[in-house]
Formats: sequence, structure tokens, C-alpha cells
Amino acid sequence: MKRICIGFIMCLLMAGLVFAREDANMKDTFSVIHSRKSVRNFTGAKVSKADLDKIIRAGMAAPSAVNMQPWSFVVVSERKKLDELAAGLPYAQMLFKAGAAIIVCTEPDKAYGKDKDLAVIDASLAGENILLAIEALGLGGVWTAGYPYEDRMSHVRTVLGIPQEVIPLNVIPVGVPTGADRPKNKYKKEKIHWEQW
Ligand SMILES: Cc1cc2nc3c(=O)[nH]c(=O)nc-3n(C[C@H](O)[C@H](O)[C@H](O)COP(=O)(O)O)c2cc1C
Repeated sequence: MKRICIGFIMCLLMAGLVFAREDANMKDTFSVIHSRKSVRNFTGAKVSKADLDKIIRAGMAAPSAVNMQPWSFVVVSERKKLDELAAGLPYAQMLFKAGAAIIVCTEPDKAYGKDKDLAVIDASLAGENILLAIEALGLGGVWTAGYPYEDRMSHVRTVLGIPQEVIPLNVIPVGVPTGADRPKNKYKKEKIHWEQW
């Protein structure tokens, strides 16, 4: 009996240690928000499927008008595809060193009132959740534009087989940061209008 009890206590202690370690790796909400930055310098290391799954789940947790969730996501980890994307996106050259990329897509037909503006707003919120999740995991990412640039959207659609009615809102390269990119302090007191403009 004594041995069973000691075994049970040991199990509890070990489980506690595992959870404590996971917690230690997770930043709290405010430090994630304030330490998020566009990361354009990656080591070239791969990003695990488990991390990519966590990141996408965070995207899907975003709010959307009337909870319509008009978004969908293309996740790319193949080196060849990442390079093909980079080849036609002059403002996303960091893809060459990224471990993966997430393309946040949106469909006006699936948004409330089939409204294109709402489709873009909803998917943008998913995009910000994704950027924050990337930071929380100690990875780096940057929103590079698809929408509203026809040439960029056309290239992304061609490489990834995205249908014409689907808007590739952005391409978010994801990777292990080199540490070269730092957060900016954007606080400006004069931008706040308390009670009245
Ligand atoms: C709609 C949108 C489009 C952007 N497009 C690009 C882009 O094509 N390439 C790029 O390197 N960064 C792009 N960015 C990232 C911004 O340059 C970046 O967020 C801004 O300079 C602020 O820096 P921070 O993200 O480090 O706070 C884009 C950001 C947004 C929101």
C-alpha cells in the first residue's frame, strides 16, 4: 500500500513538472502582444506540424461577423512550393528561408450578407491571431500582402491551386527567428481620444 501511495505521488509530481515546463514556454498574453513583430530573418529551420496545427487553431478562434467564419487556410511546408511562392512575390522574399507558410484565405460568398468587406475583416482577425500564436510559440512570422494586389493574388492562386472566387488575403512565412527583428514601440498618446474625439 505504502509503495502504491509513493508511486502515485511520484506520478503527480512528474505530471506537475511537465505542465510547469509547458507553462514556462508559453508567454503571457500581454507580453506576446507587445513582443510580436514582423520577423523577416529566419534560420532556415523547419516548423513542426504540431506547431502549425496550434497556430491554425488560434486563427480559427478569431471572432467573425455573425460567426460566419468565411476563412480557410493553406499550410505549406514543402521547400519547392515555398520557393515557387517567393519567386513571384517580391515583398515576401523571406519565404526562401522560412520553414513554412500559412496563406489566410477568405470567401465573400461565405461571409455575412456575402459582403466582401466583412470577409476581409473576419479573415484579418484570424490573421492577427495567427501572428500572435506564432510569437507565443517562440517562432517568427510576417504578414505579406496578397489582397488587394491582383498580381500577387494571381501568383498565389496559381502556385497553390486556389479557386478564383477565394481571396488569398496574405502569405505568412513562418520560421525560427535569427533574433535580428525587434518589436517597435508604437504607443502614441495623441491617438487616444478619451470620451470624445
Ligand atoms: C495588410 C498588410 C500588408 C503587409 N504587407 C507586407 C509585405 O508585403 N511584405 C512585408 O515584408 N511586410 C508586410 N507587412 C508587414 C508590415 O510592414 C509591418 O506589420 C509593419 O511595418 C509594422 O511592423 P511590425 O509588424 O514589426 O509591428 C504587411 C502588413 C499588413 C498589415
